[in-house]
Amino acid sequence: MRKPIIAGNWKMNKTPDEAAALVEALKPLVSDAACDVVVCVPAVDLHAVKAAVKGSKIHVGAQNVHFAEKGAYTGELSADMLLQSGAEYVIIGHSERRQYFGETDATVNQRVKAAVAAGLKVILCVGEKKEEREAGYTDALVEYQTLIALTGLDKKEVEKVVIAYEPVWAIGTGLTATDEQANETIGVIRQALARKYGKGTANKVRIQYGGSMNPKNVKGLMAQPEIDGGLIGGASLKAEDFSKVVNFDK
Ligand code: 13P
Repeated sequence: MRKPIIAGNWKMNKTPDEAAALVEALKPLVSDAACDVVVCVPAVDLHAVKAAVKGSKIHVGAQNVHFAEKGAYTGELSADMLLQSGAEYVIIGHSERRQYFGETDATVNQRVKAAVAAGLKVILCVGEKKEEREAGYTDALVEYQTLIALTGLDKKEVEKVVIAYEPVWAIGTGLTATDEQANETIGVIRQALARKYGKGTANKVRIQYGGSMNPKNVKGLMAQPEIDGGLIGGASLKAEDFSKVVNFDK
């Protein structure tokens, strides 16, 4: 009953011209997708990508947003700027932002609140590092990251947030969580949502898996009952590969 959502996270790849070309190549390949299809692109590509997706089912997203409406934050972008540039979705709290740019659970929460208030659809990333999994902290950690990030939202707002469970050790490494590992941890996130917001809300939230998801492993992951989609890095940069992930059910 939850509609699957497959999103590409292009990270720091593709100039505006390359971005438009990738979307043009992708369009015919995903024209009968049964899931929601999103491409989260560098902010400078938004304009070109918004124009290129016209007449298709592809939705457009950004990869980060600042929490202030405006002001002296050199190099940052507000929710309104992203919306006006064509973004409908925004990724928040990606592990690369946490790892390389000092993002914390508290700033992730501020960004989530600002994005939701402005009308952006949030893809919230959570996930444990290798040493945290090995030490047995995965469940506690993803619960903590999720609940802090959503603090201040009401149930209706929480229902619209997409959560991406991305084990850090599986990102860009070719290592994927097993289907069962991904399903189990996503189940832990859903139970945490149920305890805080009630089962009705928890059952509406779409939770993706992310981390080396590709045309080969997508079917097994998507067959798991808790997994509602994917956040795709490397495999979203080639139209054919991404379309195969999107068309996992064909
Ligand atoms: P890869 O698919 O390249 O492992 O990246 C996953 C990711 O970080 C998506 O946000």
